[in-house]
Formats: sequence, structure tokens, C-alpha cells
Amino acid sequence: MGNQSEHRTTVELEDRNRRALLGGGEARVARQHEAGKKTARERIELLVDPGSFVEMDRLVTHRCTDFGMGEQKIPGDGVVTGYGKVEGRQIFLFAQDFTVFGGSLSASYAKKICKIMDLAIKVGAPVVGLNDSGGARIQEGVESLAGYADIFLRNTMASGVVPQISAIMGPCAGGAVYSPAITDLIFMVEQSSYMFITGPEVIRTVTHEEVTKEDLGGARSHNTRSGVAHFSVESDEQCLQQIRTLLKYLPSNNQEDPPTAPCSQPVDAEDPELDDLVPHDPMKPYDIRALIGRVIDQDSFFEVHQHYAPNIVVGFAHMGGRSVGIVANQPMVLAGCLDLNASVKAARFVRFCDCFNIPIVTFVDVPGFLPGTDQEYRGIIRHGAKLLYAYCEATVPKITIIARKAYGGAYDVMSSKHIRGDVSLAYPTAEIAVMGPEGAVNIVYRKEIEAAEDQEAARKQFIDEYRRTFANPFKAAELGFVDEVIQPRMTRKRICRALDMLKNKRDTNPPRKHGNLPL
Ligand code: HXC
Repeated sequence: MGNQSEHRTTVELEDRNRRALLGGGEARVARQHEAGKKTARERIELLVDPGSFVEMDRLVTHRCTDFGMGEQKIPGDGVVTGYGKVEGRQIFLFAQDFTVFGGSLSASYAKKICKIMDLAIKVGAPVVGLNDSGGARIQEGVESLAGYADIFLRNTMASGVVPQISAIMGPCAGGAVYSPAITDLIFMVEQSSYMFITGPEVIRTVTHEEVTKEDLGGARSHNTRSGVAHFSVESDEQCLQQIRTLLKYLPSNNQEDPPTAPCSQPVDAEDPELDDLVPHDPMKPYDIRALIGRVIDQDSFFEVHQHYAPNIVVGFAHMGGRSVGIVANQPMVLAGCLDLNASVKAARFVRFCDCFNIPIVTFVDVPGFLPGTDQEYRGIIRHGAKLLYAYCEATVPKITIIARKAYGGAYDVMSSKHIRGDVSLAYPTAEIAVMGPEGAVNIVYRKEIEAAEDQEAARKQFIDEYRRTFANPFKAAELGFVDEVIQPRMTRKRICRALDMLKNKRDTNPPRKHGNLPL
């Protein structure tokens, strides 16, 4: 008898496992592949180290009986959850399975996601969510909405405790977008993913606008226009590979330092070619990425938000094998001015680095905040304040290199010594002043210029004088606002030395419930 019942159980287990692994069945899997998408399980295989995935709750089913759902149960219920390793390090993950009820979220499905999130917070390991879902399971009504809210709450509790990474690999619509939106970094797959609060049909009815799904909420729109997504990738494979790469820069939780990477390049070598990289002519643009690329460990730059607000460049890199967050004004776009989008982009990045003990290296070449009614009306004051606030509150090591312009409020904002920058360096090309020479002389010497016989000659003379006085780093160096004026060739050497000096840095903010970031 015992043997028989054991046999029955084994058969039943095999049957249940088989049904779970089949997902929504061959036809739906074929449809998924035709759409250029991998299935949930295929994606997991590409994300984690081979053989490292351990599934949880494979046999969970929904408990809905309305609309004939009692007869439609698929083990796993449309989401694959569990834990695995990336480069030998623990992660937790969930992968929504579009082949089962369109990946739509039921109460049981939400509980599965919450279970791995709760574990991830206790264990201190990142959560990676692979999203591909028709949203709230319509048949479950408010139970599904409750399930989303349970996830939103956990996303918020996990924020700043463990890194949370979202990949959008199919539909993500309605309130469902808010789970990824609370996470730290969002990838979107081109042509097969979209995110929006309401789709094209609703928009047509309400606002009479015609827009395609792709234009409304595709990877390009969210990477270039809205800034909702941080990365645009060509395929599922590229997406999962990039998540693996990203994780190399991040610690598993807020109490750990980031892992180190192997580094074969010397950290104390000088690079004479850097001396001519930043043009002496303040009007001449150059690509700040060229400077970043020569200073960091070779090919280690992992740019974040590449297509959004390109007047500021942010991303992760390694220096001497240590993870750093790079923030750099980009003189090639809008002369490197700080505008609304650039401020918010950099502020969020600075705060992420600060959450996760990643030192921040800031390259400054900024003529100021972008002037204009558009910026003012849309709240450059409020949004610019975010970046200022983010740098002020950050307690991670902060190293600043003033490459050329550092004008006005933007000088203060960009990780200056005054807001707890730890090491501040400047090139001889640095210009640190309240504003650029042209603007300054028009204000300070307006009467003298108007009274002069040759107004242009007078203006030029005042500009030259202003330049001699302010358009250099020496006044700031005399005051100790710049620790050292260095030849650009020394940049890597000095930053690596500073990172080493600061490795045990501890700094705190006053105890409080939380600050009030100007939102
Ligand atoms: C139950 C769903 C579903 C849903 C899709 N399906 N969405 N089942 N609840 N929300 C099922 C379909 O019935 C179908 O089942 C299968 O999934 C695939 O769907 P198709 O429509 O055939 O696929 P496709 O043509 O690719 O279109 C995908 C889609 C569409 C664009 C996602 O299904 C759709 O518009 N779904 C509804 C989306 C939606 O409005 N969701 C609510 C958003 S609001 P069969 O058996 O035929 O394979 C929301 C609120 C969250 O989510 C609230 C948080 C606070």
C-alpha cells in the first residue's frame, strides 16, 4: 500500500510540475516567440548563472471561482519566482509569464512576488523583476488591486535597502507601472515593451489624440522623452545580459560596499594626452565622455539614462577596481547647462549612489542653469533644488574635478566643497565665478560701456580684465575651496588615491524621520 501511495504522489508531482513548466501551453508559447519574446523561464535561464535558479511556489494556483475561473488553473499562476545567482552572488527574481492569463496579476500571484521580496529584504539581496503582463487580473477585481498595493508597499520598504531592478519585456499598463516606477533602474526592450497609465484607445476617447502604443509608451519614448526608463535594449538577451553587467557595480544591500572588479591598469600612471583634451577656449565644446573614458578603468563605463537629458552624463564605472558613480556636465549639449531634466536625472542617480555606498566622482563644466521662461514656468527652481539637496545629503565619498566652467549656483550644486565635497580638484582651465564674463561685464560695467566712445573695445577690455581675475582656479585655491590645482594628466592618479584615502569615510546627517526633498 505504502509503495503504491508513494508512487501515486510521485506521479502527481511529476504531472503538476509538467503542467507548471508548460505555462499557457505550446500555442501561447509559440505566439510569445513569434512576438520576438522569450518565455519567463527562458529569460530566467539567461539572467542567472547556469543551474543556480531555485523556484519557489511552482504549484501555487489562484483561488478565483468567478467567471468560470475555478476550472482554469495553471500551477504557478502566471509568474515564476525564486532565487538564483549572478556571478556567484545571490539575487531574488520574479518573471511574469505572459502565456498564462496574459501574465495578469491575481491575489496568489501577488503573494508569490511579496514572498520573495520579503526574503530579499531579510537576506539583503537585490530583486530583479521581469515584467510582461496584461495588468490586474480582470476576473479577480479588487483582490488583484490589493495584490498590487502589497507589492508597491514592499517596493517602497525595500527602496534604499536592496537594489531593485525592473525589466519591461512586454505590456506594463495602468497602475501596474508603479511597481517598476518605484524601483531603482528600469530597462525596456525596444519594439516589444511598453508602459503607460492609459493606452491609445482611452487617450483617443478622452483627449482625441492619435498615438501608437510604441510612440506613447515604447522604449524610445520612455528613454528619451519621459525619463521613466534608464536603459533601452534591443532584445530580451541583451536586456538580461546588461542586468548581469549592472549588478557587478552594485552591492547586494545598503550595509555592504560594492564588490571590486579586477583591474590590471596602474592607478598611479599619468596620461599626458589628457592635458589637451579640455579646450582652453571656453566656447569650444568637447565630449566629456572622452575625458571619463581616459580616467576610469578601461571600458568600464556603464552609462545610465544615456538618451535622456544628454546635457548631463551619469553612469557607473570602476576606478582601480572600485565602483564609482560618475556625474558629468556634457559641454557638447546645451553647453552643459543644467536644466530641469538634467537636474532630476542627476539627483536620482546621486541618491541611488548614496543609498548603496557608491562613491561619486563629479566632473564639472557648467555655464549655469538654463535660462528661459519654459524652464522657469516648469519649475527649474524646484527641480534644480533636487540636485542640490541630493549632493548636500549624500554622505558617500565625493570627489570633484572642475574641468572648465563652474559658474553661479551650478558651481555650488555640482558637489562643491561647501556641500561636503571631500576632495575638490581643478584644472588650470577652470573658471570659477558668479557668472560668465560677458554677462558679468554687462551688469557691472554697464554705465562705463555705455559712456565709452568705442563700446565694443571697452566691453572687450572689461571682459579681459574679468577673465584675468576670475576665469581661473586660483582664487578658489587660495580660499581652500579647491584642494589642489592639477594638470589633467594627474586625474586618474589623484582620483584613485582619493578613493583609497576615503574608503573608510563615515559621515552622518542629523537624526530625523526623513528629510523633505523638494519634489
Ligand atoms: C485577465 C488577461 C488580462 C487581464 C490579458 N489577458 N490581460 N486576463 N486579466 N488583465 C488574457 C487574455 O484574455 C488572453 O487570454 C491572454 O491574456 C492574452 O491576451 P491577448 O489580448 O490575446 O494578447 P495581446 O493581443 O497580445 O494583447 C495584450 C494586452 C491585452 C494589450 C495586454 O490583453 C489587454 O489590453 N489586456 C488588458 C489590459 C488592461 O487593461 N489591464 C488592466 C490595466 S489596469 P487567452 O486565454 O485568450 O490566451 C491595471 C491596474 C493595476 O492593471 C492596478 C494597480 C493599482
